[in-house]
Amino acid sequence: MAPDNAPFPATAQTPGQTMTVTYKTPEEQEKMRIAGRLAAAVLDMIGEHVQPGITTGELDEICHRHITEVQNAIPAPLNYKGFPKSICTSVNHVVCHGIPGAKKLRKGDIINIDITVIKDGWHGDTSRMFMVGEPSVRARRVSTIAHEAMRRGIELIRPGARLGDIGHAIQSFVEAEGCSIVRDYCGHGIGKVFHEDPKVLHYGKPGTGMELVEGMTFTVEPMVNAGRYETRLLGDGWTVVTKDHSLSAQWEHTVLVTAGGFEVLTLGASGEI
Ligand code: MF3
Ligand code: CO
Ligand code: CO
Repeated sequence: MAPDNAPFPATAQTPGQTMTVTYKTPEEQEKMRIAGRLAAAVLDMIGEHVQPGITTGELDEICHRHITEVQNAIPAPLNYKGFPKSICTSVNHVVCHGIPGAKKLRKGDIINIDITVIKDGWHGDTSRMFMVGEPSVRARRVSTIAHEAMRRGIELIRPGARLGDIGHAIQSFVEAEGCSIVRDYCGHGIGKVFHEDPKVLHYGKPGTGMELVEGMTFTVEPMVNAGRYETRLLGDGWTVVTKDHSLSAQWEHTVLVTAGGFEVLTLGASGEI
């Protein structure tokens, strides 16, 4: 649990737990804003390249060059815990952490591209779904539901709200739409560290979990399956797929808790969540 009133800069440690949440100062928030905008700009840039015939490896190369040469930033996934590439590309029944490679995109595929950049020591983490040609009705639907779930979770963010409120809003919406919410992976605090506390679960009960405090930064990144929620990790140690092979979709933003509510740090040029 976080203190009612967090001093800047600070970490809150609950006795008996290892939970350590960092609160960002206004100066640190500005650095997160810069990193967040850069991550979003990569997604803005890559959209036009998502076409039938391109490989996920080629998408990785384009993003890697943009991040390192245009943005003078660092692609956080590269070598993170041994991850071999600069972005994650998760196609169709891949839930998350897909490794870019020789796979060619085909008409009707849906792909999540997940970008995390480090600029001046600070992380920005965001992902979107892209459609390759015209998607099927069910493919578009699972993507739209994942986006709306993320949006509903984010809209509840304000000081005094609890993480369980966010998880509940996401889970109840997704399940009412006949889809399922992945339990095995979650959102996370983010800052100088890629994945820090708290864990942001995309399911839960209202009024439970950590209370949000101004200056916290974390991701909301629900993974929505068209079928059952169970996942399976492939032999490469990274790629997560739906156990029942159903389609999966995910959207992600990095968000700051402000005095009045929230600020999405990873908005792209459209300015839309
Ligand atoms: N960007 C992912 C997230 O949203 C994490 C990717 S870690 C990697 O948290 F190693 F797979 F790149
Ligand atoms: Co994330
Ligand atoms: Co991400």
